[in-house]
Amino acid sequence: MTDRVLIIDFGSQVTQLIARRVRESGVYSEIHPFNNISDEFLDEYAPKAVILSGGPASVHWDKAPSAPARVFDLGVPVLGICYGQQTMVNQLGGKVATSDHREFGRAFVDVIEDCALFTGTWAEGAREQVWMSHGDRVDALPDGFRVVGKSDGAPFAAIANDDKKFYAVQFHPEVVHTPHGAQLLKNFTHGVAGCSGDWTMNAYKDDAIEKIRKQVGDGKVICGLSGGVDSSVTAVLIHEAIGDQLTCVFVDHGFMRSGEADQVVTLFRDHYNIPLVHVDATDTFINAIEGEIDPETKRKTIGRLFIETFEEEAKKIGGADFLAQGTLYPDVIESVSFTGGPSVTIKSHHNVGGLPERMNMQLVEPLRELFKDEVRDLGRELGLPDSFVGRHPFPGPGLAIRIPGQPITREKLDILRKADAIYLEEIRNAGLYDAIWQAFAVLLPVRTVGVMGDGRTYDYACALRAVTSTDGMTADFFPYPPELLGRIANRIINEVNGINRVTYDFTSKPPGTIEWE
Ligand code: XMP
Repeated sequence: MTDRVLIIDFGSQVTQLIARRVRESGVYSEIHPFNNISDEFLDEYAPKAVILSGGPASVHWDKAPSAPARVFDLGVPVLGICYGQQTMVNQLGGKVATSDHREFGRAFVDVIEDCALFTGTWAEGAREQVWMSHGDRVDALPDGFRVVGKSDGAPFAAIANDDKKFYAVQFHPEVVHTPHGAQLLKNFTHGVAGCSGDWTMNAYKDDAIEKIRKQVGDGKVICGLSGGVDSSVTAVLIHEAIGDQLTCVFVDHGFMRSGEADQVVTLFRDHYNIPLVHVDATDTFINAIEGEIDPETKRKTIGRLFIETFEEEAKKIGGADFLAQGTLYPDVIESVSFTGGPSVTIKSHHNVGGLPERMNMQLVEPLRELFKDEVRDLGRELGLPDSFVGRHPFPGPGLAIRIPGQPITREKLDILRKADAIYLEEIRNAGLYDAIWQAFAVLLPVRTVGVMGDGRTYDYACALRAVTSTDGMTADFFPYPPELLGRIANRIINEVNGINRVTYDFTSKPPGTIEWE
């Protein structure tokens, strides 16, 4: 059986990064919330090691979260991280104090003694950079533990009980700001727990297929295809699992890029043989938002129409028991608030929100644990062409949110579509497409004066946007060589009737967002 690590979640924003690091080192892992782990589950799951995540709680709270006591009796290695360290210490008889020396961000750990976690990476006497985020800290160790690292704010920054193979750290090894963190985690899973590291994305695929079969049984699944990477990988994965029990519905709202609708239909219907309903709803959508300027109204109208169209098509094929969605892990963290407080809506991204309740369907979300680049790996594993999995993200409302501050018309959609196609073709030709997270053109609501040949022009301006990012949450503008920008601008102005000026957007996120609306 594959070696499995169990990650017990106490609500840290970065718990998934632990899973990701473990996966990257070739070991299978699952995350389970601390309050939903029975003894039977532990026996059945039979973890080779357990990792306790960080979290926002304090062990001094009433009803403070804790690890199931049995975790410490399983006879397997346990690693506590941040709050995971504090609850481990508290549960095993040590002491945690509320400290007024809080540490947030970059900190340094002095390595006091050797320890299995540090093998080959941290030497005794070294001072190593880590990332901390804590108020409380360990103040006295339980029996059998020794301190192996300390920092200014945490005298017990790293501790070890070698006999029991219990280890704990106050810092976060899972984030990239702890430069050797991945190696420390690998030392734990491989060196201490003896995991073999032979697990791959291919195994993840097999496992995901198994889970889908178990969840769905002989039920019917419907999947809204947008043409993007996430919904495509979801569809192909589910199709591998349950074949024709899956039907995909592709709602063409008329805000797609040039040639996109055809590519989606050809790939899924002809290449994969996946039952696909292609709804050309262009008129409905365009008529509904023609003339609309307000970004949120546009998003909401498109979202509502999408749901209505999808619902109608679902009825036509006789309904379904499950709705498949390409939800990724960053979507999950963005939509969960651990503080319980209301968070501000910057943009209403979730276009199909509310659909499962309305249609009385259960959700199938096989990508919920993955990050975008892992979804791309999974897509390749499933045989999707590189050109498809490497696609830039594209927003649900499509080109409708790239014509800001002006009434949307079919004519403007056509102009934008042409400019966007030239832009993307040029960056592909320049070999830069894969280095960029997302690139697109925006049609601006201003007309400017130009001169072409001997005549005066009075046409629209367009802006080009390109950003680098790892998850879309923060982004930097892409530093193109000026010659390339010049060539793209020239082609757009010469080839697209209606545009006579091109600008480049140098805004990072924050303070800007990636899309203009
Ligand atoms: P922003 O503009 O908020 O975008 O920085 C972050 C990422 O999300 C995409 N985006 C959307 N995706 N529906 C979507 O499915 C939307 O309404 C939407 N708005 C933005 C955006 O393209 C970028 O990748």
